[in-house]
Amino acid sequence: MNEKKFPDNFLWGGAIAANQAEGAWNVDGKGPAISDVIRNGIVGGDFDGEVIPGEYYASHEAIDFYHRYKEDIALLAEAGLKCFRTSIAWSRIYPNGDEEQPNEKGLQFYDDLFDELHKYGMEPVITLSHFEIPLNLITKYGGWTNRKLIGFFERYAETVLRRYRGKVKYWLNFNEINHFHTIPLAAGGIVIEKEETKLQQIYQASHHVFVASAKAAKLCHEISPEAKMGAMLSLSPIYPHTCHPEDVFDSYQLRRRSLFYSDVMIRGYYPNYAKRIWKEQQIDLQMEDEDVEVIRDHTVDFLSFSYYRSSTHKAGMPILGNTGGIIGLDNPYLEKTEWGWPIDPKGLRYVCNELYDRYQIPLFIVENGYGGVDKVEDTGEINDDERIIYIKKHLIELYEALEDGCEILGYTWWGPMDIVSAGTGEMKKRYGFIYVDKDNDGKGTLNRSKKKSFYWYKKVIESNGQLL
Ligand code: BG6
Repeated sequence: MNEKKFPDNFLWGGAIAANQAEGAWNVDGKGPAISDVIRNGIVGGDFDGEVIPGEYYASHEAIDFYHRYKEDIALLAEAGLKCFRTSIAWSRIYPNGDEEQPNEKGLQFYDDLFDELHKYGMEPVITLSHFEIPLNLITKYGGWTNRKLIGFFERYAETVLRRYRGKVKYWLNFNEINHFHTIPLAAGGIVIEKEETKLQQIYQASHHVFVASAKAAKLCHEISPEAKMGAMLSLSPIYPHTCHPEDVFDSYQLRRRSLFYSDVMIRGYYPNYAKRIWKEQQIDLQMEDEDVEVIRDHTVDFLSFSYYRSSTHKAGMPILGNTGGIIGLDNPYLEKTEWGWPIDPKGLRYVCNELYDRYQIPLFIVENGYGGVDKVEDTGEINDDERIIYIKKHLIELYEALEDGCEILGYTWWGPMDIVSAGTGEMKKRYGFIYVDKDNDGKGTLNRSKKKSFYWYKKVIESNGQLL
């Protein structure tokens, strides 16, 4: 037993997303979402634009959380979770995104889900949009590049904020919104027309999202004064690959490209550095008169983020990214996971300090975890020691960040039950402390079983971090 003690009300939890867990993709009136028509992972996979008969889409069944959520929540409660993050599948509520009236059966599902969480004293942490925008909003309207999406999102946000008033205190607006640059289709339903106009599309879509975020924050504060609206970014850090000043400054600019999203949503105005980019790239943002005031007057209450790894960057390198963040050059000081993600616990402390220095608003680590292959022993045991070591090292650094004075609301382990990987569409890339029997081809019983990490995390939570 060591001396570490997390804050008394620290939100220990787990996090999933509807499209990676629920399945039931066309059940009870749900419309197709973008994630339902992409094969091999919604990030870089094949976007079919419609469901092609005979093709395999991992989201269609996923882990069937839609029908098994009671069993899953009972297991999470047994592990002692204080909160649970998931998203509302927008197309369960508005199947095509542009209807006037919501789908009652979709609304009822989340009522039941949130009631089930409260039954065990677990706080729901709810993302409004997590890579699962209704397909029709892309095929008919062109995704977030179209200003009309602000209105559709506002209607959806108002519907769920009213419906779940008193049941949900923590809302996140858009999952990893800074991914507009690296994975525009999954993150924003942005189909890039041509390379020359890519940045124009991305910044225009970002503007619409900023207005939509502000409108959602306004509604949240009016409807439930006790509830909080947070931004959500992918913030695994980027280090300069060398100490050459060109690499240092280029890496800084790259980081700013992500922090641009939190800068606007937290401070309520566009930073000067963005204006230079728009000028140099000849970006012509279309705005309406009220936008500046709306963005200024309705900022978010906290900043949540995902943290998986770190990358290094060299000036002039092409900038690529995937679910874990920017893909950079190898860092000789770090080991990697089986999927090649560098493991960098210290980076978590670094990022918490970077963000708290910049904004001084509460932070929430809403995704962190180890994606790897699990071996089921003949006895049925799963001894996922590497996952335990990964999480343990990250929690130690998180604790240090708290000691540094960063205000951190909680920590949600990504994928407490194994779910479909967003990046690759695989089941084999597992994050859970609860094993789900299903393979990459969709075969398996879907039975749940506890891994070694289940018992370890339970002890961590029970002792409020003291057993680290
Ligand atoms: C984040 C996403 O980028 O990374 C999740 O918000 C995703 O949806 C997670 O699952 C891990 O990525 P992957 O590709 O391993 O599933």
